[in-house]
Amino acid sequence: MRAMSLLAVVVVLGIAQATLAASSKGNPEAGKKIYLESCQSCHGPTGKGDSDMAAYLTPPPANLAAEATQAKTDAQLRKIILEGLPGTAMASFEGAFEDAQLADLMAYLRSLKP
Ligand code: HEC
Repeated sequence: MRAMSLLAVVVVLGIAQATLAASSKGNPEAGKKIYLESCQSCHGPTGKGDSDMAAYLTPPPANLAAEATQAKTDAQLRKIILEGLPGTAMASFEGAFEDAQLADLMAYLRSLKP
């Protein structure tokens, strides 16, 4: 009986650890859903800044697949997403996402790298 419950604890810990690892790494598929809901209206369906809105925005939304964007660190991109870019249409998404959702979104943004 004791061995069984010990085994159960070990299994549960293993699952918790796997989940944590997955969430800190981010899931690009889940991130894509978030992107389509929150970002594509400006950055376009494939992140290239090719939305219908783009024609009306100055500066236009960034091409997120571009080298200039992909060269930024995760911390820099996170900061832009959370704080927005003053003087542009890029608003602050502070409080909009759970940490795990932000990690998923980042994983999706990195998947745009050509
Ligand atoms: C209302 C339009 C709009 C929405 C919605 C929007 N953005 Fe932006 N985004 C912009 C504009 C405009 C810029 C600024 C481009 C510039 O500075 O030249 C920008 C810039 C950025 C940049 C900086 C790129 C760089 O290389 O500096 C990132 C990263 C970014 N957006 C990510 C996102 C993400 C992720 C979302 C969704 C959570 C999102 N944006 C939603 C309009 C938008």
